[in-house]
Amino acid sequence: MGTKAPSSDLKKLEAELLQDIAGAGDLAGIEQVRVATLGKKGRVSEQMAKLGGMAPEERKAFGQEVNELKGRVSEALEARKIVLEGEALTARLASERADVTLPVRLGPVGDGRIHPVSQVFDECVEIFADMGFAVAEGPDIETDDLNFTKLNIPDEHPTRQEHDTFYFRPKADGSRLLLRTHTSPVQIRTMEVQQPPIRIIAPGRVYRCDSDQTHTPMFHQIEALVIDESTHFGHLKWVLEEFCKALFEVDDVKMRFRASHFPFTEPSAEVDIGAEAIGKPGQWLEILGCGMVHPNVLANCGLDPERYQGFAFGVGLDRMAMLKYGIPDLRAFFSADLRWLRHYGFSVLNVPTLAGGLSS
Ligand code: DAH
Repeated sequence: MGTKAPSSDLKKLEAELLQDIAGAGDLAGIEQVRVATLGKKGRVSEQMAKLGGMAPEERKAFGQEVNELKGRVSEALEARKIVLEGEALTARLASERADVTLPVRLGPVGDGRIHPVSQVFDECVEIFADMGFAVAEGPDIETDDLNFTKLNIPDEHPTRQEHDTFYFRPKADGSRLLLRTHTSPVQIRTMEVQQPPIRIIAPGRVYRCDSDQTHTPMFHQIEALVIDESTHFGHLKWVLEEFCKALFEVDDVKMRFRASHFPFTEPSAEVDIGAEAIGKPGQWLEILGCGMVHPNVLANCGLDPERYQGFAFGVGLDRMAMLKYGIPDLRAFFSADLRWLRHYGFSVLNVPTLAGGLSS
């Protein structure tokens, strides 16, 4: 029968298998070795299959040897697998390591820019929201009645000429729509549907047929309206002072109230601020119009002027953005020039908050 003692064959086989196991470089490799060794057609199973053709004595001895070999090889496989699993985990941890101290990578979001008007708009909303003002809205296309008449600007009033209005074609009944020339009609819209106390701001687009370095046919205003039974001019002055300090991010701001005329307020004033607030001492800058709401306007909205009173003001947002951020030409605001926007624009993620800084 057999020329070689079976046990020497098995020793050689074991040596080869242990070498294969040691040589497996990763988990897929060790699995391959396991199948080639202990799988149904693996090399250890091949040895087991020989048992059937052996004499009982031989079978017993050989069977025992193969079983022992199988035990040692299985242990070696398991041990190698544990080592390789450890290595795989270490590699994965290294590749998935996140350095939380690195600066944020924004991707496309970082390329976007908030327009200076949107920025100042958000800043104003933040400031007034903090003072308890709600945001009200009205349409860009407005009626003659709301843009003028109810604001105490009757037909033929000179203010109508001053406003360089874009009118739509008159309707059959003679009434005509227009592009609102100011945000003041939102005062009327608010008083018509809401009982005092009223405390709103109304930011939005306005239109006038006018164009030069400081005027464009479309621009932005913020209207404010406060109506109750006791609000007076002192409150108006305080609100405006707080607003200017917060907007220009300074501790102190010089203000000058010049007597003026608006049909919808009495008394009326135009407000200048000392330009040192924006780093240009020695000049005054006109920033807004304001006043105590005219009794006729209250009455036009169904409010009793004997009982209710309050103030209103209107600020040019574009002008505020120009002053605050040192932007010289208003027309560039609307020229859709990406280079301009990259220079003057704001990061998308820097949402203005009073606590976190409006423009930081
Ligand atoms: N609506 C005015 C304008 O566009 C600005 C204004 C002035 C608004 C005085 C007001 C106000 O609410 O009280 O020129």
